[in-house]
Amino acid sequence: MTAATPPHDLADRIDRILAAHADMEGACLSVLQAVQREVGYVPGDALAPIARALHLSHAEVYGVLTFYHDLRQTPAGRHVVRVCQAEACQSMGARGLTDALVRHFGVALGETAASGEVTLEAVYCLGNCALSPAVSVDGTLLGRATPHRVTARLGAAT
Ligand code: FES
Repeated sequence: MTAATPPHDLADRIDRILAAHADMEGACLSVLQAVQREVGYVPGDALAPIARALHLSHAEVYGVLTFYHDLRQTPAGRHVVRVCQAEACQSMGARGLTDALVRHFGVALGETAASGEVTLEAVYCLGNCALSPAVSVDGTLLGRATPHRVTARLGAAT
């Protein structure tokens, strides 16, 4: 896992994001997504001011943060590989593909390699079920994925 230091102006950024969502009902998820877009992940220091502004408990904000797989508590690696774990992909070998990628990158699902090069994540349907198993490499869809095709795509991206 990559150690992370939140940006020095995190409080100002959060204030701006909260101001932009001031009129939104149930803004917690949108605010967390906006923080991630801006900072790259949701630092732990962001939770208290968000909870205060939205009149939620720290636990409620943390619950939203940990419920959604797209939200990160640590920065991603240079490349993000997301492997679909939903039914269509499971039926077409996603589990074996995942195991092979875990071995290849030496990192568990949801973690970033110590080198910071790759983050391996689970995702639940990429909308590419007809071409299962599906993987996304840095946001680009890859259908009928194999370990070789994933690493080749990564090689092309470096
Ligand atoms: S189930 Fe994997 S892309 Fe839909």
